[in-house]
Amino acid sequence: MDLYTFCRELPKVELHAHLNGSLSKSTMMELQRYLADSGIRDETNAFTDEFVLGAGDTRTLSDCFQVFSIAHALTCTPEAIEIATCLTLQEFQADGCCYIELRSTPRNTPHMTKEQCVAAILQGIQKSSLQHPMESRLIISINRSSNKDEVEEIADLAIEFHRKQPELVVGIELSGNPTVGEFKMFVPALTRAKLAGLKITLHCGEVCNPKEILEMIEFRPDRIGHAICIHPKYGGTKEIWTALCKSSIPIEVCLTSNVNTKSVPSYDSHHFKLLYDAGLPIAISTDDKGVFATSLSQEYRICADTFNLSKAQIAQLARNACQFVFDTRIRNKIQEHVTEFMNKNNTAI
Ligand code: IMP
Ligand code: ZN
Repeated sequence: MDLYTFCRELPKVELHAHLNGSLSKSTMMELQRYLADSGIRDETNAFTDEFVLGAGDTRTLSDCFQVFSIAHALTCTPEAIEIATCLTLQEFQADGCCYIELRSTPRNTPHMTKEQCVAAILQGIQKSSLQHPMESRLIISINRSSNKDEVEEIADLAIEFHRKQPELVVGIELSGNPTVGEFKMFVPALTRAKLAGLKITLHCGEVCNPKEILEMIEFRPDRIGHAICIHPKYGGTKEIWTALCKSSIPIEVCLTSNVNTKSVPSYDSHHFKLLYDAGLPIAISTDDKGVFATSLSQEYRICADTFNLSKAQIAQLARNACQFVFDTRIRNKIQEHVTEFMNKNNTAI
């Protein structure tokens, strides 16, 4: 079996995917049709192409955050966000994903409240589960640009939805422009969510900020995303690298996202190798498959090609990632699924 087919057929778990960053061109077109049919003014027609940040794009990391407003303009009603959820989940399923934790920031728009936004995503998840076998869960996102009241409001919402649907709403996360806001402002809300039973993941070390990174690691999140500026070679310090190594916190690694936002200069120099060689727990993820024109199977393939990993090593990465999913009840079941695939394809280590 060639590597392309192998990575596609390998049962994979996606643990870091932002809904509005994951919209494909065809999903955006479907949403434009829906808005036109509903008589809702859509101003995105002219610039959906600007949504994709390919290799060599000259936009900076901060510019990247502006592209999400294009997706947000399209997912402005409960129906639109439900359509976006269903189509996006279908694409992950078609790419060989067996479990996904989709994440999204609840938004108020002229057509919906934050609560209706979350309810619509959950509706999309439930409808999708009737159509295909992939298991889907939701992580509620807090944007770093939010003020204190908004942060508390989103934590309340996450806690309430987790209480009502613990089998679907499994976590809360912190994302958004990493140069904005201070981690300690979010600690009370995150702590409340943690005590209510939600798992926590944090975007950590996207930019150099050793003090904040140490605070994040000491907070003991259940996972972190990116973990770029941690080792001294990548702008971190010995102290935070040692803290990360001791912590065993699983890391959501997003190769193409980091290269295309120029957070790392190239695939070859990506910190994946450092994390992998140190034996740290890693979950290969897409981040924003629409914005970065990628897929989970493509990320596994790039990883294999760049770092010279065998099929057995790639499959082992997919297998390990099953133990980092927030729905702890399902970890062993999905891991068995990957093991079966490995046995069938003689890639068991
Ligand atoms: P949404 O939460 O479904 O609206 O997905 C888009 C949002 O995810 C953006 O507005 C950002 O807040 C967040 N996001 C997406 N990619 C990144 C990233 O690479 N770093 C930090 N935040 C991100
Ligand atoms: Zn992200």
